[in-house]
Amino acid sequence: MGRKKMILDLDTGIDDALAIAYALASTEIDLIGIVGSYGNLQMLAGVQNSLNLLNLLGESNIPVYLGEKHSITTQSFDTLEISQEIHGMNGLGDIKIPKSSRPYASESGIDFIIDSAHEFQSDLIIVPTGPLTNLSLAIKKDPKIETLIGKVVLMGGALTIPGNVTAVAEANINQDPEAANEVFQSKLPITMVGLDVTLKTLLTKKETELWREIDSPSSRAFADIVDYYINAYANLKTNLDGCALHDPLAVAVAIDASLVTTLPINMKVDTEAPFSGRTIGDETRLNSNQATTVVAVAVETERFLSTFMTRLSTLFSKN
Ligand code: BDR
Ligand code: CA
Repeated sequence: MGRKKMILDLDTGIDDALAIAYALASTEIDLIGIVGSYGNLQMLAGVQNSLNLLNLLGESNIPVYLGEKHSITTQSFDTLEISQEIHGMNGLGDIKIPKSSRPYASESGIDFIIDSAHEFQSDLIIVPTGPLTNLSLAIKKDPKIETLIGKVVLMGGALTIPGNVTAVAEANINQDPEAANEVFQSKLPITMVGLDVTLKTLLTKKETELWREIDSPSSRAFADIVDYYINAYANLKTNLDGCALHDPLAVAVAIDASLVTTLPINMKVDTEAPFSGRTIGDETRLNSNQATTVVAVAVETERFLSTFMTRLSTLFSKN
């Protein structure tokens, strides 16, 4: 059996950058492409960050595709102030890393998702760690891919705890609740890795200090970028001792599902006030035989953190 193929669909801020690093450091999968999304920053700026990060991490072949610039119900997108506070104006804690000279791919990200679904079918894993706009447009353009794609492991939502941008909504879902609802209501086999588990996986300056000791260009850059993120969490007074590893946890779960305990639930996303952006069980599919989504509600924190540190430190030592 060949290795599974992974596509990341990112709004390349700080934890998205850690998701790229985790995927590159994981020999179980082939990262075949990155699709850009808006969210933590504008889509084009995120695409440039992805190209720069791949370059920093010694990877010069993985293509980066353009995705949508805004939600399916809007015509434009303005980055939220809170996103800039957490990820910096450039999405990477205002740390400058060398600019990649590589251009983005000419095919659209949505067509890339569709073509990859047909080519790799059940071997394809899609990991969206931004809004679900690109994936919703891909299944609208070619609904057949819903039953072709092996699995979708997404970072987004909150089932058992409140949201992080409103009382009920998590940031990625909140950017495009309609798109997210279409994805949850589709036939796609989804694992939801939401705040229920990602807020239980925290990184501190103790770990970034270990990266500093590696003293390579990538380890120094990632230590600076993640320290910005840790400081932002401290300023937000979240009661968390460190910063949340939202997006790399989704990649880790896509590779090793045993890291989390899940509940099978057919999910929906509320799209109207006062609960817009809430991820919750779909009452109209309560009695259907099989749930299309499993929701992560518990995580093996220690095992994930030690795997995360081993993988990233090994990658940083080589670059
Ligand atoms: C999610 O929102 C984004 O800001 C982060 O990158 C992460 O994907 C957390 O709610
Ligand atoms: Ca993200």
